[in-house]
Amino acid sequence: MTKIIECKIIELPKVIDHRGNLTFIEGKKHIPFDIKRVYYLYDVPGGAVRGGHAHKKLQQLIIAVSGSFDVIVDDGYDKKRFHLNRSYYGLYVPTMIWRELDNFSTGAVCLVLASEYYDESDYIRDYEEFLRLARK
Ligand code: TYD
Repeated sequence: MTKIIECKIIELPKVIDHRGNLTFIEGKKHIPFDIKRVYYLYDVPGGAVRGGHAHKKLQQLIIAVSGSFDVIVDDGYDKKRFHLNRSYYGLYVPTMIWRELDNFSTGAVCLVLASEYYDESDYIRDYEEFLRLARK
């Protein structure tokens, strides 16, 4: 059963204003989970690759709040590359998806909204183990 179709771009509300635009996100309203944690990647050096893991329970929304980067999602059967370059689009990543982030532009900021607190035991960091679990 392929899960890759569950990885979707969500268009977020955008309040257009000549003083500057505004986007907001409410848990369970604009995204399918409550937000327990927020983190962000910044000062990413050229050529760097982040991610390289999957989560058993955690769901995420990944947003390029500034600049751009790619997210490659993999459900153990299929892979898909998303290019994120707008502050009002988020990529929803459900459970049990291997993700990698690359192609970061200069000054890119990757904002992540997460459904769970940080818990290392929720991570699958070994790709062979991920394939075993994903293909069960
Ligand atoms: P990691 O999840 O491997 O980074 P990424 O997937 O974005 O490339 O996290 C890198 C380090 O930061 C790792 O030692 C765990 C720590 N960390 C926290 O302590 N809390 C957090 O919420 C996150 C996301 C990471």
